[in-house]
Amino acid sequence: MLKKAVIFTSLLVLLFAVWTDKASDFLPAVIRQFFIQRSPAQPSREVLLTLEELQLYNGKDRPELYLSILGEVFDVTKGAKHYGDGCQYNFFVGKDASRNFITGNFNDEDASDQVADLSHDKLLSLKQWKQFYRKHYTKVGKLIGTYYDENGQLTPHGKVVKDRIKAAKQKEKDADLQKRIFPPCNLEWTQETGTRVWCTELSGGISRDWVGVPRQLYEPGSKSYRCACISDENKELGSIKEYDDCDPTSTSCFIKI
Ligand code: HEM
Repeated sequence: MLKKAVIFTSLLVLLFAVWTDKASDFLPAVIRQFFIQRSPAQPSREVLLTLEELQLYNGKDRPELYLSILGEVFDVTKGAKHYGDGCQYNFFVGKDASRNFITGNFNDEDASDQVADLSHDKLLSLKQWKQFYRKHYTKVGKLIGTYYDENGQLTPHGKVVKDRIKAAKQKEKDADLQKRIFPPCNLEWTQETGTRVWCTELSGGISRDWVGVPRQLYEPGSKSYRCACISDENKELGSIKEYDDCDPTSTSCFIKI
C-alpha cells in the first residue's frame, strides 16, 4: 500500500514538474529528455529590429528576405521568386514601404511607410495586405520606427493609423448593414422604354426572403438619393420617397431621370 502511495506521489510530482516547466531543474537527464523533447515547442519570441538591421535581410548580407508592413516584419524567404534579387517585388525587401502597397510605385526613392492620410478604402486594402502576410509568411517581429517603439509598443502615430483602420472597418460594416436593410434596386435602360428600376429577392446582390418596392432613399444630410428596395416595415420612413407615376405597391417602376 505504502509502495503504491510513493509511486503515485512521485508520478504526481513528475507531472507537476513538467507542467510547470521546472523539470530541467531537478529531474534525471533521461526523464528530462523524454518529457521535455515531447512537450510542445514554445512559440519563438518576436524580435525588435531597427531599420539598419532590417536592411541586412536582403538575401545577400543575410540569406533571409524580410519585409515590413505597418511595422510588422515578415520572413518572405519562401517567396524568393517574387522578392529575390531582380524579381518583381524585390523593392519591398529590407524596408517598410507600406504606402507603396497602395500606390503601386516601386521606385526606391518613393518608398514610404506613411499611410495616415490614405482614404478608408485604401487603408482597408493595406490591412488586407498585412493579413495576407500574416497568413502566408512567418512574422519575425516588429520594426522600431514609425509604428513601434524600442519596447515593441505602438507609437502615438501607430495608434492614429490603427484607429483610422478601425474606423474604416466600422464604416464598411455600417455600409454592409445599410445595404442589407435597404438593398439597391436592379436598373436597366433601353431606348424604347427608358429607365426601369425593380426589386427581386436578389437585387443589389443581397439574398433575402422578401422583395420590397423601389423607393428613392435619401442619404442622411444629402440631397442625393439612390434607388433602394424597401420592405413593408420600412415603408413609412421619412428618408424615403415614392417614384412619381409608379404604383406604390409595384415592385417595378419606370422612372424619369
Ligand atoms: C499596387 C499594385 C501591386 C502591388 C502592391 C502588388 C504586390 C504583389 C506582391 C507583394 C506579390 C507577391 C505575393 C506573394 O508573396 O505571394 C504579388 C504577386 C503577383 N502580382 Fe502583384 N502587385 C501589384 C499589381 C499587380 C498587377 C497590376 C499585376 C498584373 C498586371 C500583378 C500581378 C501579380 C501576379 C501574377 C502575382 C503572382 C505571381 C505568382 O504567384 O507567381 N500585380 N503582387
